[in-house]
Amino acid sequence: MLTSCDDPPSAEPSDETSLGLRFPKGFVWGAATSAYQIEGAAGIDGRGPSVWDTFCATPGKVRNGQTGDVAVDHYHRWSDDLDLIKQLGMSSYRFSVSWSRVLPDGVGPVNQRGLDFYRRLLAGLHERGISPMVTLYHWDTPQALHEEGGWENRDTAYRFADYAALIAAELGDSVPVWLTLNEPKTVVQNGYLTGVHAPGHKDPAAAYVVAHHQLLAHGLAVQAMRPHLPAGSRIGPALNLHPCYPADNSEGAQEQTILYDGYENRLYLDPIFRASYPADVMADVARFSPMASYIQTDDLKIIGSPVDLLAVQYYTPIYVTADGSTIFKHPTSQAFWQQIYPQGMYDILTRVKRDYGNIPLTITENGLPTPDALGGDGMVDDPGRIAFFRDHFAAAHRAISDGVNLESYHVWSLLDNFEWQEGYDERWGLIYVDYASQRRIPKRSARWYSGVISANCV
Ligand code: NOJ
Repeated sequence: MLTSCDDPPSAEPSDETSLGLRFPKGFVWGAATSAYQIEGAAGIDGRGPSVWDTFCATPGKVRNGQTGDVAVDHYHRWSDDLDLIKQLGMSSYRFSVSWSRVLPDGVGPVNQRGLDFYRRLLAGLHERGISPMVTLYHWDTPQALHEEGGWENRDTAYRFADYAALIAAELGDSVPVWLTLNEPKTVVQNGYLTGVHAPGHKDPAAAYVVAHHQLLAHGLAVQAMRPHLPAGSRIGPALNLHPCYPADNSEGAQEQTILYDGYENRLYLDPIFRASYPADVMADVARFSPMASYIQTDDLKIIGSPVDLLAVQYYTPIYVTADGSTIFKHPTSQAFWQQIYPQGMYDILTRVKRDYGNIPLTITENGLPTPDALGGDGMVDDPGRIAFFRDHFAAAHRAISDGVNLESYHVWSLLDNFEWQEGYDERWGLIYVDYASQRRIPKRSARWYSGVISANCV
């Protein structure tokens, strides 16, 4: 039940930012990270390389030639980082397991030291009363598997399921919520269409094969994990959804928006939640490669294996013109692709409910990069991030009021970190990292968020 916060606590969200919106009792607040973006320790304790190590080592791929070799050294500083999560009052923490830290070649013998890192991390979370949410794949395909064809090779889907089963068997007792793949669409679009992410291909014929194999990997992993997990464990995919709107009132724009939405959203939601591919997208994709060549009988049944929740990542809307291109209508952030539009959060959450049913939802990412700097007073003031979260939390609150089954919210990100091709220039964290010293300084947004959490109210 939603009530208003007529009695806002004295914590920071009251002042200029309080909207008086109380979240349902038991609503879970947290933050998210991913392995390659924070761990560092790239060559330590037997970790094998991933496609991101290779990509970063290729001149011209990442801004300033930066890499995740050290990142924010979370591999060594995890305990302090968990203390910060605890101090900020979060009750959930989403992180990812590095496939090649546990299985250096993606298959074969387990690297015990790699697995032990995640055991330590999970034990540390439990000691602090923080609930873990674990992503199995956040883009760091083991290089050895990539050399066998990576996601273009159907076999990778089966190898992913083996890895998922192993992790479920080893760590299943201490993880209540599992996320299979993080943003498979980004791998398709950035990894295989525009090439700005690893593995840096520009190959539309391969891109949709990669989409299918990732979806297959998701379904196979769901099936492979179940027998190893205690009753009550939950599994779902983490999808970045983009609400798509016509740029104008023309019929052409409306039509193009439908197809665009197909590529952005239905291509992933339909197979997972309806065990079918959207016909319009499939017809269009045939331009690049005939689907019959890679979709086998029963694949959709596997991909549509029942899941327990959907993890939604929302950052930006997309406006589509009659010629199928896109335009911007709202203020943008430091991320060239991001328009700030909180209503999009409401629209995408309510749309999922309308079209796919009242599935339990968690927001596993939403955030903003801002030009943060350490002030003379030792503080980092990031009012833009506070306003962004306030407005997006309010949009989520409105979706809940309208019956959306949203149970938790993880902001991106806990800490400033390696933002892929942008390197370390974009700061997305609640906690500022001074990269030279690796010192962590909670930004003003972190203190504000902490107030939201303790009040359960924005
Ligand atoms: C989504 C990705 O999952 C995450 O790794 C990335 O840092 C954020 N978007 C911000 O771009």
